[in-house]
Amino acid sequence: MTVEELIAAARAAKGQAYAPYSGFQVGAALLTGTGRCYTGCNIENASFSLTVCAERVALFKAVSEGESDFKAVAIVADGDDYASPCGACRQVLAEFNSGIEVYMVNRQGEYLVRKVSQLLPSAFSLKKTF
Ligand code: THU
Repeated sequence: MTVEELIAAARAAKGQAYAPYSGFQVGAALLTGTGRCYTGCNIENASFSLTVCAERVALFKAVSEGESDFKAVAIVADGDDYASPCGACRQVLAEFNSGIEVYMVNRQGEYLVRKVSQLLPSAFSLKKTF
């Protein structure tokens, strides 16, 4: 799967967003080591803190299907800025592989790419000893 195809999958997933409170729709597409793609959208809730981001929906779908080897994730939203994952999603991605490449896409379809380790240096881990 190409980067463009991964971004297209994230853009399609954005169309499923349930975002009646913020009106801000997000789509994510997560690529596994075997070439499978899992998508997610943000799902909001009237009890605002129960909202789940698109990235975590994609990752939780994948893990629940037996996946744990992740290579890249594309995130698409309609903002002028690149769609950057929130801190919680960075930590959740880092749990599986801090080398995942994160493609952050803006409204124009331009993107920035960074590794999770660059977006979240010193991620919390129970395995580390400082
Ligand atoms: N959101 C995501 O889906 N991913 C992020 O990384 C940041 C924020 C969603 C959550 C909420 O539904 C909306 O964007 C506004 O915060």
